[in-house]
Amino acid sequence: MKTSNTEVKDNLSLVYYSKTRKTERFVEKVTEVIDIQTKTLSEYQSGKYILITPTYNFGEVPEEVNAFLEKHNKDMIAVMSAGNRNWGQNFAKSGETISKKYNVELIGKFEMMGTQSDVEKLVNYIKQLE
Ligand SMILES: Cc1cc2nc3c(=O)[nH]c(=O)nc-3n(C[C@H](O)[C@H](O)[C@H](O)COP(=O)(O)O)c2cc1C
Repeated sequence: MKTSNTEVKDNLSLVYYSKTRKTERFVEKVTEVIDIQTKTLSEYQSGKYILITPTYNFGEVPEEVNAFLEKHNKDMIAVMSAGNRNWGQNFAKSGETISKKYNVELIGKFEMMGTQSDVEKLVNYIKQLE
């Protein structure tokens, strides 16, 4: 059953970047469980948000995400990152970099579109904010 929007902290959204739509699919799966607004980097205007980002090019934060964070890092409350374990030490490393740089919690790291357990991890994080 879906948790109603009234239970989700006012004005909180999921802001995501997704080049090949895997992260977008993860975000969609989260919204099948909990009613929360989702926005791409360009759709975002204001308000507290949780950032969901993949990792590209040897553990890097995507350039688009870095540019976004330069402007909007103050409203980010946490980050969750995606990648592929084939990248070894660089697996989903963007989340670690962002968490350290901006001093926000890293909720977790997941592969591609994430498993049900990854979805639950994010949903549980959101629920405990209330
Ligand atoms: C050129 C390229 C570089 C990548 N580099 C990394 C990396 O350093 N670490 C990692 O965990 N995943 C890496 N990945 C895997 C992506 O992060 C993964 O496929 C992710 O799910 C893509 O998300 P998106 O479809 O939302 O863009 C890379 C993928 C590509 C195509």
